[in-house]
Amino acid sequence: MNIDSLIDALPKAELHLHIEGTLEPEMMLALARRNGVSLPYKSVEEVNTAYEFDCLQDFLDLYYNGMSVLIEERDFYDLTYAYLEKIQQQGVIHAEIFFDPQGHTSRGISFETVLGGISAALETAEREMGITSKLIMCFLRHLPEEEAFDSLECACKHKSLIHGVGLDSSEKGYPPGLFSKVFAEARKQGFIPVAHAGEEGPAEYVEQALDDLKVQRVDHGNRAFENPQLIKRLAREKTPLTMCPLSNLRLKGIPSLELHPLKKALQAGLVVTVNSDDPSYFGGYVSDNYKAIQQALDLQPQDIITLAKNSFTASFIEDKHKQSAHDEIDKVAGKFTLT
Ligand code: HPA
Ligand code: ZN
Repeated sequence: MNIDSLIDALPKAELHLHIEGTLEPEMMLALARRNGVSLPYKSVEEVNTAYEFDCLQDFLDLYYNGMSVLIEERDFYDLTYAYLEKIQQQGVIHAEIFFDPQGHTSRGISFETVLGGISAALETAEREMGITSKLIMCFLRHLPEEEAFDSLECACKHKSLIHGVGLDSSEKGYPPGLFSKVFAEARKQGFIPVAHAGEEGPAEYVEQALDDLKVQRVDHGNRAFENPQLIKRLAREKTPLTMCPLSNLRLKGIPSLELHPLKKALQAGLVVTVNSDDPSYFGGYVSDNYKAIQQALDLQPQDIITLAKNSFTASFIEDKHKQSAHDEIDKVAGKFTLT
């Protein structure tokens, strides 16, 4: 058996995934036709050619444009269901999924249309495929905090469907501290806080996410490594990092995968996890990310097992389910003799 088969076979959780970032070019073109939306691309090849990014903002411009084809509840359903079918093939048994309601409500699509389609697909997938999930609603940080409060008000009407709140979009110039009030209210309302920090922004933004937003996980966190005290703190407080190697490579956060900080995170004892972020834009779903980073950093089978276990440790599922996932990982790993 080779290590790629181990990666495929291990049960995994995905914790950093933007559902709008799973919109494959084929589906984008099909939904554009179905909904009469015009796009700047005529073919899958043209879409793929356009997906060349120099930074996060280059990607975000195309990401917001791409989501303009999502209009009806069934579009959100189809998008979500297609993602779940893909990850089932990759051994993912639990997914904690971001969605960006402001990317849709700003185009006149109702919050309920978005949430209705996504959550119906999640329910079907749990029934049909046994994949469990939680939804995390993100606030777009390039927009004012008052608009985030509008989203939070909508979310409060659907607490049974939304587990947490997150912070995404353009990072530089938009520190987490700008959203302290809306996160405080969200926590008061029972939503679990997470935030993107240290993807392009400095280590100080990671500290703000911890101190001002009181996040329970940091999404990315790459630049935390610029501050050794902060790494010690993340280890001590067991705050997980949800890292996304192929995303960082494609958005030029790192010059090559060999220079990705994931191995340093493992060595520092952090609860680090591997995730896909926006797989249709960055060229790989979760197993593809595991395989690419394994090769680049020469990760050993024990590291892969640790990463798979971390994905459940860092998740928001109940402790007893974390334990049974760890037991299942040990069972699957025990059957592997690597060659
Ligand atoms: N970073 C920040 N915001 C995002 C991303 C990302 O990788 N994907 C979707 N929104
Ligand atoms: Zn992300």
